Amino acid sequence: MVPRARSGTSPRTQGSVAGLMRLTAHRMKRRPIPQVVGDSNRPSVTHNAPERPSRVSLECMTDQTPDAYGGIARFYDRVIEPLNAPLRRAAIDLLNPEPSASVLDVGCGTGGLVEALVDAGAEVAGIDLSESMLSIAQDRVGDRANLQHGDATNLPFPDDHFDAVTASLFLHELDPHTREAAISEMSRVAKPDGSIALIDYRIGSLRIKGRFLRAISTVAERMAGSEHHTNWRTYMGNGGMPSVLGDLGLAIDREKITAGGNLAIWIVSGPSR
Ligand SMILES: C[S@@+](CC[C@H](N)C(=O)[O-])C[C@H]1O[C@@H](n2cnc3c(N)ncnc32)[C@H](O)[C@@H]1O
Repeated sequence: MVPRARSGTSPRTQGSVAGLMRLTAHRMKRRPIPQVVGDSNRPSVTHNAPERPSRVSLECMTDQTPDAYGGIARFYDRVIEPLNAPLRRAAIDLLNPEPSASVLDVGCGTGGLVEALVDAGAEVAGIDLSESMLSIAQDRVGDRANLQHGDATNLPFPDDHFDAVTASLFLHELDPHTREAAISEMSRVAKPDGSIALIDYRIGSLRIKGRFLRAISTVAERMAGSEHHTNWRTYMGNGGMPSVLGDLGLAIDREKITAGGNLAIWIVSGPSR
């Protein structure tokens, strides 16, 4: 694992006192943390994989259903994952986890990044709100990772637990308050000398490949439901991840622009960690 630089070492985004206070306030509001099941270094699998949906329900593609990904989970790996495969490799190159590093992937979806981290030798846990997405992730990784159904804003892990915490293509779809709460939780469960790696849409100039991918992304974000689409637009309109992190007093230690400029991977540090 690459040691994280502390506050002010190479910040593209400088943390503010107000951001630190907001992050602290999120932490103070958090709910009690349930016990981790099993060995603290490698929690046992606690997710019971549900049946995959037998057919696509258009109803599941709206925001009103409990599982917002119920309708698209079974297509996700066929349609989206081929585009994301290079992203997984780039994220692991940048994060560079040590063998047996403990890594939590938040909003793990169908487990593409979880599997790549396992293949890189990490001890991996994943958490996601969608039973349908988790079911596919469970099929993908079996007992090679600990997958749990749960909410990113209330992670069932103790403070300072993981060497690294990742979130891939997940934070943009949350409303601003939930996004801040999720990042605050990621920060809480990462060890003080651990890393947080975020992969998400980037604001900035696009190469031809990036324009093509942004067009596809725009369609996908529209199809994901009105709330998801609104949150994505808000995220993009407000300056994307550097702005989100700056508001929370977290600094970007390293950045890799990828997918023709459409996406980036950020390794985060900050004064409140
Ligand atoms: C676009 S998918 C990305 C999945 C995966 N990280 C990837 O890179 O392919 C976003 C995922 O975030 C999950 N998600 C959304 N809100 C969540 C929350 N509050 N807590 C945990 N997971 C959440 C969704 O269920 C979905 O699986």
